[in-house]
Amino acid sequence: MMAAMTRSILFVCLGNICRSPSAEAVFRGLAEGRGLEIDSAGTSGWHDGHGSDPRASAEAGRRGIDMSAIRSRKVVAEDFTRFDLIVAMDAQNMRDLQMMQPVGSHARLVKLLDYAPELGLSDVPDPYYEDNFPEVLDMIETACARLLESL
Ligand code: 4NP
Repeated sequence: MMAAMTRSILFVCLGNICRSPSAEAVFRGLAEGRGLEIDSAGTSGWHDGHGSDPRASAEAGRRGIDMSAIRSRKVVAEDFTRFDLIVAMDAQNMRDLQMMQPVGSHARLVKLLDYAPELGLSDVPDPYYEDNFPEVLDMIETACARLLESL
């Protein structure tokens, strides 16, 4: 059977205010004109309706990436049928998504850094606590470029 085309991608982290909205904004820029549906969400819902962390927006802004329109939301069951690919930032996000995934839904779950093995890391570290936004943005930019190449 031919592999299904990837037309829609959801990036997921815990809070949906640091890593996954950064990935959404980076990937949106890279994939411009490709007609992909791109979004992000969090497993927790703790920051529902909030804008992204100002530290993430500031670092993205330094790289010419605008995150001002993004609002945090929780992952919902429909995401597993609406999106072809769901991209987790770390192993805990992946476990949470596996628990939430409705039986029979078609979304494929992957981890972002699986696309960039040269980084030697399997999880995007959580910058909310570590305050390492430039390092995290570097990883996200590298892996998003590789993800796009893989489609
Ligand atoms: P994110 O970072 O998952 O990359 O959006 C976090 C944001 C908020 C919290 C933890 C991580 N929090 O504990 O509120």
